[in-house]
Amino acid sequence: MDQTNPPCSGLRIGDIAPDFSARSTAGDVRLSEFRGRWLVLFSHPADFTPVCTTEFVELAKMAQDFEDRDCALMALSVDSLFSHFAWLRMIRDRFGVEVRFPIIEDPTLVIGRAYGMVAADAYDSGTVRTTFFIDPDGLVRAMTCYPANVGRSTPEMLRLLDALQAADERSALAPANWQPGDPMLQQPNATLDDVYGAKGDSDWFLRTTKEAK
Ligand code: BEZ
Repeated sequence: MDQTNPPCSGLRIGDIAPDFSARSTAGDVRLSEFRGRWLVLFSHPADFTPVCTTEFVELAKMAQDFEDRDCALMALSVDSLFSHFAWLRMIRDRFGVEVRFPIIEDPTLVIGRAYGMVAADAYDSGTVRTTFFIDPDGLVRAMTCYPANVGRSTPEMLRLLDALQAADERSALAPANWQPGDPMLQQPNATLDDVYGAKGDSDWFLRTTKEAK
């Protein structure tokens, strides 16, 4: 395996998110205790690094937006709990925002490896910027992976959560660039009679949920 390119994740969409318990900045946490609500679990390469700091500032500012969607946030890195505490204090003092969602310490990499956030044979203990969107049943519904040198888009994290929730609620599909309030697409469950009977040549597979059959 190319050690410079660790896999984004050993998990696949639809897998059960592996359970774990860990120390965090908000006390001891167990992943399975978050069942019943959405959870965004994300790793960052290291505390006290520039890009990670901007991500945490932005996520702390948007924490209520995730809460409004019944979604918890949980972060993870290999740094110690006391490193997390010191970093959060620095963020509060410099940026005026308090990070209240839990940041897990994973010094043995046991969680990072279970989630494929670090390569099994990695020589560098830093996790990549992986984000897991876990549904109320504990299933991984989406994953993103960014390198150390590019920060995540927090509006895109929220948009993806909105799209997953809306698609579930309406049994529909979110098209490219979908935003809350936009029409969604119908599931393409066509029979040959639907195909031959459709008015337009794409109406049998490409329909918004507002369009009549
Ligand atoms: C950063 O978050 O800025 C960063 C993290 C790891 C390596 C380089 C930069």
